[in-house]
Amino acid sequence: MNNIIVVGSSSIDLVVNTNKIPNAGETVLGKSFFTTPGGKGANQAVAAARLSAEVYMIGAVGNDAYGTQIINNLKDNNVNTDYMDTIENVQSGTAHITLYEEDNRIIVVPGANNHIKPDTVIPKLAKFNSGDIIILQQEIPSDTVDAVVKYAYENNLKVILNPAPYRALSQETIDRVTYLTPNESENELLFGNDLDKVIANYPNKLIVTRGDQGAVYFDTIIRNIAGHKQNVVDTTGAGDTFNGALAVALIEKMDLAKAIDFANMAGSLSVTQLGAQGAMPYRQDIQD
Ligand code: RIB
Repeated sequence: MNNIIVVGSSSIDLVVNTNKIPNAGETVLGKSFFTTPGGKGANQAVAAARLSAEVYMIGAVGNDAYGTQIINNLKDNNVNTDYMDTIENVQSGTAHITLYEEDNRIIVVPGANNHIKPDTVIPKLAKFNSGDIIILQQEIPSDTVDAVVKYAYENNLKVILNPAPYRALSQETIDRVTYLTPNESENELLFGNDLDKVIANYPNKLIVTRGDQGAVYFDTIIRNIAGHKQNVVDTTGAGDTFNGALAVALIEKMDLAKAIDFANMAGSLSVTQLGAQGAMPYRQDIQD
């Protein structure tokens, strides 16, 4: 079986649940608070590993208590952490999340994730082979994303680039990735608002996720793979679950429509409990 390699961020999420969002200069009382492992990269790695793939995480934490918690959580979820670096005198990444009216607002402080650089990442990729899939997101430096995409292109590894959070991408990087998986707003920022036209320019590559509406891509026509409505408790990490599950389905050689359907199901189940990784499904949950 081929491997899934996530090159990406890991963080501790500091989550406040509130009925009221403060205005500038205002203080309000929140409902509850919890901390939990997150970071888009680590979430994607855990999502893939829970669906029973062989998953490696390449990333970095600080030499602090959060760093230990992040690594232990990856190990507990059967993610290989041999390629995680611990950076001295730097804080682990944190994400400051406000949950309000079934949606989230997130401020990420990258910390050690800013130390995930091409010169440390590229040598670690030598172990992997054509047929393996790399997942990338954008909470790590952009030169690392570009360098990993170039390496994968030249060495025949597949890449899923989840362009979240949004930042500009070079046309070269877009052309070199195997799959690009923005949500609707990221897609609009990347390509403008004519979805039908844009999607036809990237057949079997651009997969635009639409929450509980599912996802769209183009082969010879626009394909809309329907989503699944669930009782929404917390949507944090749903996109990450989609990407992790998509990689698993592709490793298992499902065709693209089937792979997106599988990923839609995993993403929809992930919103039914609090926390990015709280309700990420296991294989049995999908089968059920
Ligand atoms: O995609 C959800 C994730 O984004 C959270 O877990 C948080 O860490 C932020 O990075």
